[in-house]
Amino acid sequence: MNAALEVRGIVKRFGATRVLHGVDLQVAAGERHALIGPNGAGKSTLFDLISGRARPDAGCIVANGIDVTHQSPQRISRTLARSFQTTSVFGAMSVLDNLRCAALGAASARFIDKWLPSRHIDERARAMLDAIGLAERANERAARLTYAEQRALDLGIALATDAPIILLDEPTAGMNRAEATRALALIRATTQGRTLLVIEHDMDAVFGLADRISVLVQGRVIATGTPAAIRANRDVQDAYLGGAAT
Ligand SMILES: Nc1ncnc2c1ncn2[C@@H]1O[C@H](COP(=O)(O)OP(=O)(O)O)[C@@H](O)[C@H]1O
Ligand SMILES: [Mg+2]
Repeated sequence: MNAALEVRGIVKRFGATRVLHGVDLQVAAGERHALIGPNGAGKSTLFDLISGRARPDAGCIVANGIDVTHQSPQRISRTLARSFQTTSVFGAMSVLDNLRCAALGAASARFIDKWLPSRHIDERARAMLDAIGLAERANERAARLTYAEQRALDLGIALATDAPIILLDEPTAGMNRAEATRALALIRATTQGRTLLVIEHDMDAVFGLADRISVLVQGRVIATGTPAAIRANRDVQDAYLGGAAT
């Protein structure tokens, strides 16, 4: 497999508590991969490690063939963009300016794009504005958007970076069914041709979106496979789908 993202033997402790116990995960180039598991399993912690916000106690992370385990978050952001479990838009700024900032930040992290004309930044931001369906809200302060719109903007901020690998942490959390359906269609459309790793609680969403699914339970990946294989997996049913699903 041509892995765009590879996590090998990742261990993470907080004080005396071990949260991740040797996690292995491979995401193929161009694949949409979902990470599911009960609350507290360590999913967001794994995202923090992959994106350089925290350091693992053991193991390594390889993105696009490069060992990024000890790289700065800014350096990692050249190849990998992430969204957070809670919204992280700049509320006092306009929707369009949020996207301009993301596009500009990404360009300045890449040496080759450092002197990209502002016109290009603007074009990239406006293209993303259309893609996330917020063109009519371009000049609205982000704080005035509905929750679902803010989450769409979160997605746009991650995607406006042009990074080939995208990590999304519970992009549909807190949305109603109609909003979640729309957000998923948006994610499907806007991650075309990129590599996606998404943490998602909505099972219907996961099974519709993902090429493959990995199941994290108490800091261990207990299964990886196609949606059909995961649905049929007894360990997964016992540990997650059966009862503790949230
Ligand atoms: N900074 C931290 N300090 C101490 N414990 C943490 C920290 N971050 C996460 N944890 C703990 O690690 C475990 C996994 O959390 P998290 O990665 O957020 O799980 P998930 O995203 O799967 O719900 C939880 O028990 C949580 O309390
Ligand atoms: Mg989480």
